[in-house]
Amino acid sequence: MKFNLIINGKEVEIDAPANIRLSVLLSEILNRKSVKHNCGSGQCGFCLILIDDKPIYSCIYPASIAQNKRITTLESITQKSEYLNITKGFQLAEVELCPNCAPARILLTLNHLERNRELTGEMIDNIIESVTCDCTDTKALKEALYLSSNFYEGGHF
Ligand code: FES
Ligand code: FES
Repeated sequence: MKFNLIINGKEVEIDAPANIRLSVLLSEILNRKSVKHNCGSGQCGFCLILIDDKPIYSCIYPASIAQNKRITTLESITQKSEYLNITKGFQLAEVELCPNCAPARILLTLNHLERNRELTGEMIDNIIESVTCDCTDTKALKEALYLSSNFYEGGHF
């Protein structure tokens, strides 16, 4: 089947199996390395991307219904100052930018910040619950997200 996708503002046409999941199409066929196909069942959140600015788990999202919608992956923001501000918060809190879970977590953080300008405690909990892993210390992660929110707002430390 031929897919017509809009990925990070660019139109992409690609042939793939009709029932392919969006995470597989993005990560394995289109080489978007920030998108991870991990559990494949909507549990871990590593495959989180944005469709029309809303977060979705792409491992349970058929690529066929993503056609002609705006798909956003972390690659769209890694050259922007907002990305640097968010990652600065993680570095100060000494939270590793793990290649498996961090891309989804950072993208979700930026999505909250773009809509609300700052993170509330509820949003921080949502980010932590949406992208889970056993190896991140929750207290340090909360601190990282709090710092990221302040950097996004132009705060000083
Ligand atoms: S890979 Fe999609 S939620 Fe785990
Ligand atoms: S999977 Fe990334 S820190 Fe746990």
